[in-house]
Amino acid sequence: MTLPQQTLLRDAMRSLNLTRDAFCDRLGVSRRALDSWLLPDGSNEQRSMPTVVARFIAEIMATQQPAKYTQSVPNPSSNIVAGSPHLLSVSQFDRESVQALFRLADLLQPVARRQKVCRVLEGAVLANLFFEASTRTRISFGAAFCRLGGAVCDTTGFTFSSMAKGESIHDTSRVISGYVDAMVVRHPEQGAVAEFASATHIPVINGGDGPGEHPTQALLDLYTLEREFSRQGKLIDGCHIAIVGDLKHGRAVHSLVKLLCLYQRLTISLVAPTGLELPSELMDQLSRNGNQLRCNQQLAQGLAGADVIYATRVQKERMGSEALEGYSPDFQINLAAVQNWCKPDTVIMHPLPRDSRPDAHDLATDLNPDPRLAIFRQTDNGIPVRMAIFAQLLGVDQQVPHALRDCNWRHPPHLGPEDAAFDVLE
Ligand code: NCD
Repeated sequence: MTLPQQTLLRDAMRSLNLTRDAFCDRLGVSRRALDSWLLPDGSNEQRSMPTVVARFIAEIMATQQPAKYTQSVPNPSSNIVAGSPHLLSVSQFDRESVQALFRLADLLQPVARRQKVCRVLEGAVLANLFFEASTRTRISFGAAFCRLGGAVCDTTGFTFSSMAKGESIHDTSRVISGYVDAMVVRHPEQGAVAEFASATHIPVINGGDGPGEHPTQALLDLYTLEREFSRQGKLIDGCHIAIVGDLKHGRAVHSLVKLLCLYQRLTISLVAPTGLELPSELMDQLSRNGNQLRCNQQLAQGLAGADVIYATRVQKERMGSEALEGYSPDFQINLAAVQNWCKPDTVIMHPLPRDSRPDAHDLATDLNPDPRLAIFRQTDNGIPVRMAIFAQLLGVDQQVPHALRDCNWRHPPHLGPEDAAFDVLE
């Protein structure tokens, strides 16, 4: 199998854990040459890598990690699911299975970016069962399944489901598994998605269980971070990440923090209003691996020196009578705060939705034209990451490279008017 040059290079950098600059040094090539080899096939600036370089990379990889280099498609033993057909928690991952998933997501990027089509799930049906509010998670799971050739059935809310008639999770799950090949479930109670999974052998994916976990969100966040850093020549190991907001109830943060525990030498600044701090067991996990943990109540101190800011909204729906209306204005991340306290290349992320009501003081819209704002690159990356998850869980990951075909419709080069110039749909 011949891999696309871009995939081969990305795989190699990832497996060797080298930044672009360090990879250039290792190969003895200029950064400019590497950048041009890393552009997608068909891009005007893209250049072919000389065969001698490809051979040299193969030799380096063969000495270091022979098993990993022989195929870009992850080997099934390094899949998420070792031992489980379901994806319920990021705790199912180790660093190798995260990298295997991301390699597959890279292979699927051309499908997400409308250059290729891939129908490895033709005939399969997904049930999207969302018992809590959702826009992007539900639609992106559905779109990812459709882009792999499958079809999707949706149900939203309790009102129109048989749970309103008192049906148990067990019965609902078993019934639905007679109709479909996979389920994505979002539920307001922590642990409820695991209960769905215990009643079926078809794959169940946790689309968010109350304040518990949101594993696919954290995976797409980490994938985005890796891609942003790869462009900047940085690695996740050793980076400084500021996590800001409702760290107590945010399940996306809970999953992300657990995934970050797979990395080393991080500096993590936690910035939360009183009462919304990260649960202590997650703090304990984070402070292992030589990571440095800083708790701040001042935004300026938390953001200073950060390579990435991960902002979140106040989860009012999970609070009782103590409900905050929103953050006080001094918690708001806006253009002025970023200009005053952040570096020129700080990556700004948020799982979305951002609460745009004026009293919420969530991530401000005046950052929209700033290319440091990665929130829509983050949502776009939900598609290749969720496609990769489906492909692994349904056992078609090995077929992906052989199933990519050109797509025959037109799409605009940028999806939104404020998209960064470097983020082109080739
Ligand atoms: C998050 C969620 O639902 O947990 N949203 C999402 O899925 N992207 C975060 C949130 O609602 O604040």
